[in-house]
Formats: sequence, structure tokens, C-alpha cells
Amino acid sequence: MTVSTDAEWFKTAVFYEVLVRSFADSNNDGIGDLKGLSSKLDYLQWLGIDCLWLPPFFPSPLRDGGYDVADYTGVLPELGTVDDMRDLLTATRERGMKVIIDFVMNHTSDAHPWFQASRSDPSGPYGAFYVWRDQPEEYLDARVIFIDSISSNWSFDEVRGQYFWHRFYAHQPDLNFESPRVLEEILDAVRFWLELGVDGFRLDAVPYLIEQDGTNCENLPGTHEILKKVRKVVDEEFPGKIMLCEANQWPNEVIEYFGDDDECHMAFHFPVMPRLYLGIREGSRASISQILADTPAIPPGCQWGTFLRNHDELTLEMVTEDERQYMWSEYAPDPRMKCNLGIRRRLAPLVDGDRRRIELLHGLLLALPGSPVLYYGDEIGMGDNIWLQDRDGVRTPMQWTEGPGAGFSSAEVDTFPYPLIDSPGYGPEVLNVAAQQADPASLLHWLRDTLAIRRDRPVFGRGDFTDLGGADAVFSFVRSLEGTVVVCVNNLSATAQSVELDVSAWSTSAADVIYGSPAELTLDAELLRLSLAPYAFCWINLGGSGDA
Ligand code: BGC
Repeated sequence: MTVSTDAEWFKTAVFYEVLVRSFADSNNDGIGDLKGLSSKLDYLQWLGIDCLWLPPFFPSPLRDGGYDVADYTGVLPELGTVDDMRDLLTATRERGMKVIIDFVMNHTSDAHPWFQASRSDPSGPYGAFYVWRDQPEEYLDARVIFIDSISSNWSFDEVRGQYFWHRFYAHQPDLNFESPRVLEEILDAVRFWLELGVDGFRLDAVPYLIEQDGTNCENLPGTHEILKKVRKVVDEEFPGKIMLCEANQWPNEVIEYFGDDDECHMAFHFPVMPRLYLGIREGSRASISQILADTPAIPPGCQWGTFLRNHDELTLEMVTEDERQYMWSEYAPDPRMKCNLGIRRRLAPLVDGDRRRIELLHGLLLALPGSPVLYYGDEIGMGDNIWLQDRDGVRTPMQWTEGPGAGFSSAEVDTFPYPLIDSPGYGPEVLNVAAQQADPASLLHWLRDTLAIRRDRPVFGRGDFTDLGGADAVFSFVRSLEGTVVVCVNNLSATAQSVELDVSAWSTSAADVIYGSPAELTLDAELLRLSLAPYAFCWINLGGSGDA
């Protein structure tokens, strides 16, 4: 298998976020590791994954899932070594797959040697690496993000006798990008991983790089300047490598992170994600249609990253207050399910394990503009454990087999980073990869087959998007690319629906179903008529052209 040489490979790729710690343990110490992940690449290739996204695996006190980095160019020993990472990159390349890794530019752990030096030696080489003030009086218009745990973005350091700035936990001091040396160090770490062979970065928490009094300290021009400098280094020294930004912002703010094709190649589309869950609960496309209408066009070399779940809470930052209350009341009936401004649950339990709704959500994910980013375990409908601390309930060990340790590790289960899921219907004895691989009717096979349909049709990755409007309970849209036209029809409601869609804007000599089983499908006088069962979706190729 050869690796794609297409510089725009990310536009048609399917991404898969995998927590190394929780995926597979190769040395039976109870903790997933890089070698364990390498041993599962055949599975990921079989599933149809093009690119892995590895959240932080660097040395870290692990007080924020590794997003508290203590060394940007090392590997946390319990996860392996830099050589293991090199081996993983070789093994993925051999399978035609790519790897992007998290890069946490905004802050370090307080255990990072830079912070330790900054506290103890204010006039030394690292003295200005962080944002220090005598009084916590500046930047007071910046919101607190982890509202469940902290009340201020300033904390006092006894050693230096000053306050330091942090947008997340108090053990995650923000780097001071006003100091040019900080960016130089960051760029050296970027080069280190690109030289090792990673295909790019998921850039964590980028809206907060620069602070400015009197603003909310998000998305400031200086922040964009820093990212453009990073992009310049990537383009000049490592062409073809990508930057995917995590900016949990409204569409008009996020598109600034693409720059003029000179900033990030990709950005997550945060606002559309909760609206998919909202849409299938309300049985209404209104909120989804609205946010997509509010999403500006992006530069030609860029792509959205879309997702249903990830390692964090299902964030409700990018919805209205009414929508947030509705989401909480419908999807977080137990107060413990709430986490910050979001919900600490996995995809399958959110929809009561209902296969139709799991499939519909994936149908939307795979057909909407953007490259889908799957979250490990969701391909088998894994459950969660809301009683674990913070967001750990969605980070539990992958369930490979029904045996003890779920095939994740043969160590004693009490050595695992997080306990195995044991809620009824979701434990490894009933829900695991091996059982689903053996069952052609399983969710896992369904997803694999559906990914294969998408893989053959670049229109899903690169095509234009047109919302067809119409009935509120059915979200119908067209993806089109160079003569290929695919109509995607999604019944968001719990009742059967019939629709009549005006497709006169496209050539319509024939309508071929490429996914789904719509009833009463007819095409006449350029009207497409069909019926869909509750929560069913279908993809229809118009004109009989196909683009496989
Ligand atoms: C990551 C979180 C992390 C935070 C602070 C986020 O955006 O996804 O998991 O806690 O950044 O680094």
C-alpha cells in the first residue's frame, strides 16, 4: 500500500482519534502504549481509517489527560519511547495511513522545566516565558473555561511572589507569546516531530495564545500572526504536513484560522456538532440548516474537521442559552452528566444505544462538508462511566474481546488507567470488537461498509454543499463535484416521512441509491420523491453518472 502523495489528502481522509493510554497494552503493565497501538493498525486499516490523531503522549503529570505537557519532545515512559513513535510512523506509512499528533502551544504543565525556571529565576532565560503580573488586574474580560473547577484565570505563585495567567487549570500556566523566544522553542519542537515523520498537528486551544486588556483575549490578531509563522515553517521546511486547529468558536471567528490559505489547513467545526444531536432530538433541521447557512466559504486549500464526539465533554459552548438548556434537559437528565458547559457522555449512550440514531448521526457526519474525525470505541458503540472524574468517563479502555481485561491488557484490571465499562449492555462481555467483526450485521461492519461507500466518492470530501430546504423534520442537501451530484436525505424524526425535493438545478436523468432503502423513490419533472423510515437516511446519485 502506498501513502497518498496528494498534498490535499486531508480533504478526503477519515480521521480517528485514539488515546494511546486506553487503546492497547503491549507490555502488560495495565497501560496502553505506542507498541500496543502499532499492533492494532491492521484493524484500523480494515475499518477504513486514513489518519490517526494522537492526543498528547508526552511526559506529563497527567493532571489534564496529558494536555499538561512537561516536555514537548519526549514520550511519557509508560507509553513508550521516541523510537516506538518512529516505529509507529513507519508501520502506519506501510499501510498507507498517516498520523497527526496533538501540539499544546498555549500552555505547559507547571512541572515543565521552563515554568520551574521562570518561577525561581525571574531575570533568567525563562523569566519571561509565562505571563506574570504583580496583581491579577488585567484581562478580566476573559471568561473562565473550566467553570466546574476554577474561578479565576490568575493564580498566585509563592516562589516568584507574582500571579501567573492560565486559561485552563492553575497547573497549566499560559506561555507568553509576546516573548519571541517562546515561539522559537515551540518551532523547534514542531520541527522535531515533523522530522520524525508525523504528518501534522492538531493544535490545541489556539484562540488563547495572545492576551490583550479590554478584550475577551480570544482570536486576537497577534494569535493569528503566531499561527501564520508556524504555517510558514511547516510549508517551507515540511511541505505537505498539515495543521488542524481546535478553536471552539463561532463560524465567522473560526474561518479566520484558515487565513488566506496561509494559516491552518483544517479547523474543527464546533457549532455544527451539538446541533446534530439537537436536530435528532427535536426532529427538526432548523438549527443545523441555520448554522451551515451562517458558515462562510473557506479558502480553496482548506477543509473542515467534523466530529460527533471526542475525548472532552460534548461541548455546548457554541449554542444559544435556550439550546444549551434543551440539550442538558434531554441528554443530561442526571446532573452528574453535566461537565463544564457540556455533557460527559459517549455517543451510543447519548442516544440510548439506538442503532438507527447512531447510524443517522454517522450518516450526517460522513455526508456533511468536512473530513470526519471518529473517536475510538464509537465504532462499536462503546459506553461511558459518568462517575469517573472530569472527562475520564469517555476515556476508558478499548473493548477488544469479551475476556478478562477486554483484550486491552492482560494485567490485573485494577492497574488500568480507568476501569472497564460495566454498565448493563455496554460491558466487554456483550460489546467488543471481536464479536462485532464476526457479525456482518454489527455496527462495526455497518460503519466499515458506509466508510467504503464514502471512500469511493470524493464528492463527499471535496464537493459543494447545497441545503435543499423543505420539510423541517427532514434534512436534505446536495453534495456536488464536477458533474457528480449526490442528494443526501436524513429523516431526523421518530416518524416516517415523505419528501418531494426540487432537484431541477442539477442534471437528473436517473436516481441511483448508493446508500439506504428509501421507499417510493421516483424522479419525474425534476422532482425527487421518496419516503424514509424513522431516523433513516439515504444517499442518491443523480444523473446516473457516479464518480467511483
Ligand atoms: C483539550 C482538552 C484540554 C484543554 C486544555 C482542550 O481543548 O481538548 O482536553 O483539557 O485543551 O489543554
